[in-house]
Amino acid sequence: MEITTRSFVLSLAGIGVMVMVMMIGSAEATMPAVFVLGDSTVDVGTNNFLTGSVDRADFPHNGIDFPGSKATGRFSNGHNIADFLAKQLGLEMSPPPFFALGNGTAPLKNSSFKGVNFASGGSGILDTTGDGVKTVVPLSEQVQQLSTISSRLASFKGAETAAEYLATSVFIISIGSNDMFHYYHDNSSSSSKEQFISQLTATYQQHLKNLLKLGARKFGIATVAPIGCCPSQRLFNRTLGCLEELNDLALAFHPRVTQLMYKLSSEYHDMKFSIGNAFLMTINVINHPNRFGFKDGGGACCGQGALNAQAPCTPTASLCPIRDDYLFWDLFHPTQKAAQLAAVTLYSGPPFFVAPINFKQLAEA
Ligand SMILES: *[C@@H]1O[C@H](CO)[C@@H](O)[C@H](O)[C@H]1NC(C)=O
Ligand SMILES: *[C@@H]1O[C@H](CO)[C@@H](O)[C@H](O)[C@H]1NC(C)=O
Ligand SMILES: *[C@@H]1O[C@H](CO)[C@@H](O)[C@H](O)[C@H]1NC(C)=O
Ligand SMILES: *[C@@H]1O[C@H](CO)[C@@H](O)[C@H](O)[C@H]1NC(C)=O
Repeated sequence: MEITTRSFVLSLAGIGVMVMVMMIGSAEATMPAVFVLGDSTVDVGTNNFLTGSVDRADFPHNGIDFPGSKATGRFSNGHNIADFLAKQLGLEMSPPPFFALGNGTAPLKNSSFKGVNFASGGSGILDTTGDGVKTVVPLSEQVQQLSTISSRLASFKGAETAAEYLATSVFIISIGSNDMFHYYHDNSSSSSKEQFISQLTATYQQHLKNLLKLGARKFGIATVAPIGCCPSQRLFNRTLGCLEELNDLALAFHPRVTQLMYKLSSEYHDMKFSIGNAFLMTINVINHPNRFGFKDGGGACCGQGALNAQAPCTPTASLCPIRDDYLFWDLFHPTQKAAQLAAVTLYSGPPFFVAPINFKQLAEA
């Protein structure tokens, strides 16, 4: 089913409908490239290159609705948010993983070069988030990988042209969930919720400053969705309702990120940003799945046991027949249909969901 921005917004809240209708159209060709950083919400195959990583999805039933039913490493039945955003932004396809470009050694002097995806499933803002061993690429390392790309761009374009190139490119970042899962479930942390959110925000600031130093100026950020409502987390609630404490962390994080972006933009006057409120966007769909064409907003399509969430999606997992009926593909991740809905909202949604401008306005800014 095709989800249009217009029907989504109309059915959702009726906010800003006129603005939306006028804004529908394709992104301007002024944006040279898209760089994606983050976790499994936007990973397009990074972890396939990490030997021993357990955060992988390069096996069926993942990818069952991807062209050729290919399991590409995306944590989805098909395309994910990074793919749909790339399309919306006018690219033919999602930028490839950094590792697929020979760790940045592939020729970038190539008209088909439209950016890089550094996102790694299981990674976080904090280096300590991940599966303990070095089998995810934390955000700090993703930023380092970008510096490789940035140096190479400078070496063949010249410093000034490369700087202009990066300053006009869009940097999409979707991260933070894994830090919260880790904080909540690993009882080793002695910090309070408030201290944890402050630490997370302060560390995010460092990464963003490093991106600014490398020349990034346009940031399209998605904050954290109501992760307590993931099928896997509902299992920790006796009534199978959402795990409210995790949702509270996600709720607390959004205003802190917003504050941070305003602060950074007061230091870097040419910086532009757009922040998607992943919590609001998603909780609406969870609370009213039918309005968006879903039959099930609580359980996973692929998995095992209660809510199909007691085991990950593997070749032997139980698979729902109609993927589009489900909001959740597996115990943590959205289906392709839910990812498209999220991407459309980030790209052209109203300020209630994405502010102060949406990703389309960011690309054109
Ligand atoms: C790229 O980096 C990965 C992980 O660090 C390493 O395993 C791989 O050998 C590198 N590949 C190339 C082409 O340098
Ligand atoms: C250009 O880069 C793309 C990947 O970004 C690659 O698939 C293609 O083969 C490259 N073309 C040339 C001529 O190097
Ligand atoms: C954390 O504590 C809960 C109960 O308080 C327990 O069920 C869980 O196994 C503990 N987790 C770890 C990683 O120790
Ligand atoms: C479990 O879900 C119910 C709603 O079904 C909610 O009221 C309750 O606070 C949740 N419990 C926890 C521990 O999050």
